[in-house]
Amino acid sequence: MIEFQTKGRLEESLCDHIAEIMHLAIKEKGFTKLLLSGGGTPKQLYKRLSALKLDWSKVKIGLVDERFVSIDSPFSNQKMISEILLQDSAKDATLIGMVQNIENYTENLETVNKLYEELNEADVVLLGMGADGHTASIFPGDQSSIQCTQDQLPLIRNTNAPSEPKRRITLNKPFISNAKHIFLMITGDHKRQVFIQSDTEKYPIHSFKEDISEVYFTTN
Ligand code: 6PG
Repeated sequence: MIEFQTKGRLEESLCDHIAEIMHLAIKEKGFTKLLLSGGGTPKQLYKRLSALKLDWSKVKIGLVDERFVSIDSPFSNQKMISEILLQDSAKDATLIGMVQNIENYTENLETVNKLYEELNEADVVLLGMGADGHTASIFPGDQSSIQCTQDQLPLIRNTNAPSEPKRRITLNKPFISNAKHIFLMITGDHKRQVFIQSDTEKYPIHSFKEDISEVYFTTN
């Protein structure tokens, strides 16, 4: 766990680290793939990323998870990431959303599982964590979430959140763990305690501890 004095310094350091990985991947493979979380914590980081000078036409972005709402809903992770990240230099990046068929939750999942095959083995996954130890949309006490940490397939699942919007779509653990670099970004001492003390499946983040490349943390 790397602790920073301020959120701004954390974001600067993590942005530089992600930029370095992206530049190298584009140089080596001709493209780079990012899988990004929603929520409030990473918004300023995404703003920093959008200003990076690189060939964003070679950047493919997917979501770690999504709320099953229309993509113009204020709850939509795709909307947040489009409005904050896909601006400035980064407007040429490709973002593949997880809500392709708002009319049918089950059919949507089948479509997204096929679409996301090209995003497997991402270069970077950015995870957040809730105060209850959930990560992505893998929640404590939800049967479908439990299967995300136990089953290989399907790589993307519909899960149930304890609060609205309850219908979620999420990458499962194998999909996330296939990435080359997995960063967890958390703020506040309570989340640090939850992360450190998470020692059972009661806290979904526990399943990812060995896969996380680095935890970026600040109390502020
Ligand atoms: C989401 C996120 C979720 C988030 C945590 C933390 O869809 O909400 O992907 O997993 O990372 O809930 O959210 P905050 O950063 O807002 O605390």
